[in-house]
Amino acid sequence: RSNDKFVTDIPKIELHVHIEGTMTPELRWKLAQRNKIPLTVGSEKVPLSTLAETREAYQNIRGRIGATSADGKRNMTFFEAYYGGFDLLQTEEDYFDLAMGYFERAAKMNVRYCEPFFDPQGHTRRGIPIDMILKGFKRAQIKAEHRLNVRSQWIMCMLRDMSPESAMDQYEAALPYKDMIVGLGLDSDEYERPPSLFYDLFKRARGDGFRLTSHCDFNQKDTHDHIRQVAERLGGTGAERIDHGMNVADQEDLMEIVKSKDIGMTICPCAYVRHASEEAVFPRIRKLFDAGIKIAIASDDPAYMEDNWVLHNLHLVREKCSFNNKDMVQLQSNAVSICWAGDELKKELL
Ligand code: HPA
Ligand code: ZN
Repeated sequence: RSNDKFVTDIPKIELHVHIEGTMTPELRWKLAQRNKIPLTVGSEKVPLSTLAETREAYQNIRGRIGATSADGKRNMTFFEAYYGGFDLLQTEEDYFDLAMGYFERAAKMNVRYCEPFFDPQGHTRRGIPIDMILKGFKRAQIKAEHRLNVRSQWIMCMLRDMSPESAMDQYEAALPYKDMIVGLGLDSDEYERPPSLFYDLFKRARGDGFRLTSHCDFNQKDTHDHIRQVAERLGGTGAERIDHGMNVADQEDLMEIVKSKDIGMTICPCAYVRHASEEAVFPRIRKLFDAGIKIAIASDDPAYMEDNWVLHNLHLVREKCSFNNKDMVQLQSNAVSICWAGDELKKELL
């Protein structure tokens, strides 16, 4: 890992991190012990009986569908690892610990402001009440602001592989907590789940005052159509941000739309290099940046991506895109520009 002092020290903003994707093997182990839930790998439920085995399972997260490695060991796919972690979250204290763990890590990297995602449906479909989740998060958020000087606002993401009706029901159930939720996003498995399925919900959410974003993961089927739907139609006239959206760089008309509508993009390089070559990743990032599109660098699911947090993602682009100090500052001012903090806070962050 490269380690550049300028990047290490610079004040940071993180706009694309799934709070459930920050569950370290240590926290997974602790929650399993505390809630007396056996830890397993994959749908076959191969048991994990020590923290060391849990750490090893995290190092072998591969692909999107079940995969067996060359040595015959069953590996977790990303979504198995990610959603498997949800089952361990059972009490308000668990949600507090999850969020506080991220905020503490953020403080150490000099992250001053963040907008973490959470996936309410992934919890409420297991019978967890929405107020338990948000009470835990809120307590951590307040403590992080006062003790760590890390400010935050939450983005509620809908699971696009569940139905639009389920998303609408979840949205309505979360409305009483609107004061701590700044935006609405769309995540989970994108395969044959276009943003257009959720137009009604996003239009309503914009009317209710939520800021809008959606995942368009790198190199997904129909990605250019999905990007166009998010940029031009989501919420009526298009979302304000696109999460990932790297394939914008493939088509000049998409570049033009994103640029002219001043749509912000959250880019998570460590997530892409797990599945794509460096030549596919870094020239695209450089192209978006050089075109003046407001990209901000983030971590996505750092615990499940070989422990690469926002700091490592910044080190990586600095090296692989040959960004200089001025460029690294530009990435942070992009993040301030596209973030959803109020004007007062934005001024403080600049
Ligand atoms: N892609 C889609 N949905 C997600 C991801 C991701 O990388 N991480 C958490 N939810
Ligand atoms: Zn993401």
